[in-house]
Amino acid sequence: MSATARKKAPNAEDIRARKGGTPLVSLTAYTTPMAQLMDAHCDFVLVGDSVGMVLHGLSSTLGVTMEMMILHGQAVARGLNKAMMVIDMPFASYEESTEQAFRNAARLMAETGAGAVKLEGGVEMAETIRFLVNRGIPVLAHIGLTPQSINTLGGYKVQGRAENADAVVADARAVAKAGAFSVVFEKVPQVLADRITEEVDIPTIGIGASAGCDGQILVVEDMVGFFTAFKPKFVKRYAELGPLAEAAIAEYASDVRARAFPTDAHVFSEQPTTAETTA
Ligand code: KIV
Repeated sequence: MSATARKKAPNAEDIRARKGGTPLVSLTAYTTPMAQLMDAHCDFVLVGDSVGMVLHGLSSTLGVTMEMMILHGQAVARGLNKAMMVIDMPFASYEESTEQAFRNAARLMAETGAGAVKLEGGVEMAETIRFLVNRGIPVLAHIGLTPQSINTLGGYKVQGRAENADAVVADARAVAKAGAFSVVFEKVPQVLADRITEEVDIPTIGIGASAGCDGQILVVEDMVGFFTAFKPKFVKRYAELGPLAEAAIAEYASDVRARAFPTDAHVFSEQPTTAETTA
């Protein structure tokens, strides 16, 4: 499938220029209807590899493939008109070499229409970020807790406490210097997030970081209560749609068993009526 051209979306340089301004708003999306709901409200929408856990029931993001990202990226692109789309590079699609990273990043952008890719890692990924940016691929970096590395980080732990703070600062400096247009900090102490936000000249996007970051991102299914397997501390539930959806499903099941659905309003007569739609 060819890339979907979207005329009004901001680009990576527009996002970079928002450093220190009104906070940037971002959410993840994996489907067209969800992308449509957030398009008017977000500066950029991330097709996150969290899709593996949130929609596919995987126990981590490690099993997410390029094919999954491309399918979800294409779906999200169909729902966006105004917001920029960024797409995650899945585990094992960029770590091997700069050439592998370029090949897969270019494929993600060409086949989905995304305006940038996101990849996880700081100092160790700086060379890859530079390679991609120098070849026309804008990169959103992701440091702090990087979920693709849970097996080496020892789980979903806060990163940058005590003596580890210097390592997170070094990661932030490295990705900014390498040319990332913005950086996501996940699960880092608030004071550290504020310090790095002051120091680096690219917008910082917090998730479990600080209101002082240049923007915020959340997984939409977390904040509307659709994903309830667990709730990280950094998630604010703005709605509880999961229980609402389950109540609707239970009522439907009970109606079907009682033959209370469908009613006359939902069935068709032999002759068309004026109220009937073709839908
Ligand atoms: O995959 C994802 O959803 C993410 C964000 C929450 C930062 O990486």
